[in-house]
Amino acid sequence: MKQSVKQQLNDYIKLIEQKLDEFLPLKYPEEIWESMRYSVLAGGKRLRPVLCLETCRVLSGNFEQAIPAACAIEMLHTQSLIHDDLPCMDNDDYRRGKLTNHKKFSESTAVLAGDALLSFAPQIIIQKTPKTVSQDKILKVLEEFLVSAGAEKLIAGQVVDIDSEGKQIDKDTLHFIHENKTAALFKLSLRTGAILGDADELQLAALTDYAEKIGLAFQIMDDILDVTSTLEELGKTPGKDALEEKATFVSLYGMDTAKQRVASLCDEACDILKENNIVSDILQEIANSITERVA
Ligand code: IPE
Ligand code: IPE
Ligand code: MG
Ligand code: MG
Ligand code: MG
Repeated sequence: MKQSVKQQLNDYIKLIEQKLDEFLPLKYPEEIWESMRYSVLAGGKRLRPVLCLETCRVLSGNFEQAIPAACAIEMLHTQSLIHDDLPCMDNDDYRRGKLTNHKKFSESTAVLAGDALLSFAPQIIIQKTPKTVSQDKILKVLEEFLVSAGAEKLIAGQVVDIDSEGKQIDKDTLHFIHENKTAALFKLSLRTGAILGDADELQLAALTDYAEKIGLAFQIMDDILDVTSTLEELGKTPGKDALEEKATFVSLYGMDTAKQRVASLCDEACDILKENNIVSDILQEIANSITERVA
């Protein structure tokens, strides 16, 4: 990775960490705020908020107006992880290199921490987005957020994912799962940055296509890493998909095809940027780095 891109990425991550900390105070009753902060501030790659900020910057030259929305997306993502790890879902003990929320606190606290993050996140968009951003744009961002978080997208993907355990599913069903449980939040990240960065219709469509490609590639890579990686590298327990008899890209297509598909999706994502004159080292680097990621 070029040194300047690495620096830019680190600067974004530092800012996101600082803002997440600032947006999530410790209030009464402390246990719920503590458990929300525990998972949100546990470190994660912060890929979705970086994508949101960079998209806004590349279009408008500024990203300040997208900081609250980017943090809200990271809160939503963290909520999805807390609930995904629950014993009634994927039943995981480790996340982001630490004990999962329900292991550290309790199952009831983890359920409530997820609920609380889900409603706190749009609250942050409304309360913290600079007043210079029009109400119309904020409403559009909120609609994108709520649709992506709900039973039409993320939840739909999670339901079919759980329902497919131990079953032979077809390729369309697997695509539905990946599209909704994972690609939807990547699309939300790019589209939010695009709306706040004043994208025109063509730019919005191109960035949505780019997000679709990297979102699908990201989940296929996640399925690969579950087979090939370690707890130390991943920060979560590997081998869980086979144990829970999950339908994954690897179980359906095999390892070789999975790796090839990640590479071709990432190439296609970079082509979309080029074809549409979207010049961003960060967006390009994120697409390229998915094939090489180890965590
Ligand atoms: C994990 O996402 C969930 C998937 C969609 C595979 P990340 O791998 O981005 O998790 P963090 O945010 O870095 O912990
Ligand atoms: C990721 O699916 C989707 C969400 C968390 C919403 P996984 O269940 O494969 O994610 P990990 O592997 O637990 O991070
Ligand atoms: Mg899952
Ligand atoms: Mg899981
Ligand atoms: Mg996984």
